[in-house]
Amino acid sequence: MPEIKFYKHDPLPMEMHKVKIVQKLNLLPAKERLEKMKEAGFNTFLLHNGDIFMDMLTDSGVNAMSDNMQSAMLRADDAYAGSETFYRMRDKLEEIFGIKYVLPTHQGRACEHIIAQRFVKENNCVIMNYHFTTSKAHVTRLGARVEELVKDEGLIEKSNLPFKGNIDLDKVRACIEKEGADNISYLRLEAGTNLIGGQPISYENMKEATDLAKEYGIVTVLDASLLQDNLYFIKTREESMKDKSIREITRMIADLFDIIYFSARKFGFARGGAILVRDEEMFHSMEDYITMFEGFLTYGGMSVKEMEAMIIGFDESMDMDIISQGPQFIKHCVDVLDNYGIPMVTPGGGLGAHINARQFVDHIKSEEYPAGSLVTALYLCGGIRGMERGTLSEERNADGSERIASVEMVRLAFPRRVFTLSQTEYVIDRVKWLYDHRHLIGGLRFVHEPKTLRFFTGRLEPVSDWPEKLVEAYIAEFGEDQ
Ligand code: F0G
Repeated sequence: MPEIKFYKHDPLPMEMHKVKIVQKLNLLPAKERLEKMKEAGFNTFLLHNGDIFMDMLTDSGVNAMSDNMQSAMLRADDAYAGSETFYRMRDKLEEIFGIKYVLPTHQGRACEHIIAQRFVKENNCVIMNYHFTTSKAHVTRLGARVEELVKDEGLIEKSNLPFKGNIDLDKVRACIEKEGADNISYLRLEAGTNLIGGQPISYENMKEATDLAKEYGIVTVLDASLLQDNLYFIKTREESMKDKSIREITRMIADLFDIIYFSARKFGFARGGAILVRDEEMFHSMEDYITMFEGFLTYGGMSVKEMEAMIIGFDESMDMDIISQGPQFIKHCVDVLDNYGIPMVTPGGGLGAHINARQFVDHIKSEEYPAGSLVTALYLCGGIRGMERGTLSEERNADGSERIASVEMVRLAFPRRVFTLSQTEYVIDRVKWLYDHRHLIGGLRFVHEPKTLRFFTGRLEPVSDWPEKLVEAYIAEFGEDQ
C-alpha cells in the first residue's frame, strides 16, 4: 500500500477496510478486573473473554474475516470424501505456491506432528532458525533435538536490523558437518519467527540456507504460518525484491522448499492448516498419518466452511493493502513506546508488539516471573490481555529449580484487521502509564503448578498486596469507572 499522506502530520497507519459486523466490548472497572484476576488465579489464560477489553493474547484464530470470506462459506460442499471445497482449496494453493500435493490438517501443530512423525528419528537433530513451542515439542517427543541457529544478532532485543530471523549459514554448515547429514531430519525455516518478536527472514537467506541443505541432501521445510507478515517485510525491506509482486515473491520462496506447512489460524485468516508436499512419493508416504490423526484426505479435521473462507483468505494474503496493515500498526505502537523510553523489541516485526519485560520491571527477579507480572498488571490497568513469553512458560529443571528463559517478553498481538487506531492508542497510553508506575508492580508465585505447560492452567498469587496498590493508583489517575 502506498503510505497515505497527511497534511502537516506524519503518516499514520490506515485501515484499508471498513467495519461491517461488530462485537461489543466490555470495559470492566479496575476493581472488578482485580476480582476477575483473583478468580483466574493471576493467570490471564484463565480469564473469560467477556471480561477483557483488548484481547491481544494472540493472532491465532481471531483474525477478522472479510465479506468475501464470509459469503464463500455459504457454498461449502459438505462431504466426508471428495468435497469440492477441498479441490478448490488444493487448486488455490497450487496456483499460489506451485505445489500440487496438499494434505489438510486441523491446525498448525497437527502439520508439525505429521512432519515430525514422518522424518524424525531418535537422536536426530532438526535445524531451525528459531523454534516455536509446538514445533519443538513434536521433535523432542520423538527423542530428537532442535538446533536453533538464528544469527546472534537476532536475539539482541533493541536493534535496527531488517531481518533478525535470518539463520547463520556458518553455524548450519558446522552443524551438518558435526552431526552428519544423515542424522538431520530436516531444515525448518520459520518465516517470520514467532518467539523472537515476529522478526522476518530475508529471501536471500532462505535461498542460501536451502541451497546448503540441498548440497547435503537434507529435506527443506518452510513454516509459513506467519508468511504474510514476512512477505510484507521482504517487499519493503529487501532491496532486490522491491519491484516484485507479492505473488512473485511467494512463488520464489515456495520454489526453495520440499515441504511448506502453515497454521490457517494465521495464514488464511481462518481456522485449520495444511502441508504442501512437492514430491509425489513423499506425499503418499504421509497420507496415512492424515487419515489416522486428522480426518479423511479431503478435510483433515477442518470444517469445509472454514476451508472455503481460507481459500479467499489465501488470495487476500497476496494483497499488499491487506498484509501491510498488521506490520504498520505494530510499527506505530513499537515506535511510539520506544520513543517514550520503554524497552521494546525493535524494529517492530509481524504478529505483535513485544515488550522486554526483564528491563521494564527490572526490580522483579526471574523466579517471580517479570513477564507474567507485567501481563497481570496490564490487565488490571486497562483490561488488556497480552501473552507472557518468558520464564513462566518454561518447565522446571529436573532438580526443581527454575529454568530462566533467555528472553522475557510480553507480546501484544495484533490480530489482523481487528483493532482500530484509537484502540491501539489506548493500549499505548496504558502501557506508558504503567511504565511510569512500574515500581508498583510486584512478582507472582505458583499456588497450583502443573508439571507440563504450567502457564496454561497453573494458578498463582501475588507475593504482596501490590495488585491492590496498583489498582488504587490507577483509580486515582483515571477514576472508579475505568
Ligand atoms: N508455527 C508458528 C510460527 C506459530 O506461530 C504457531 C502458532 C504454530 C506453528 C502452531 O499453529 O496454533 O495452529 O497449532 N502460534 C500461536 C500463537 C499459537 O499464539 O503464536 P497452531
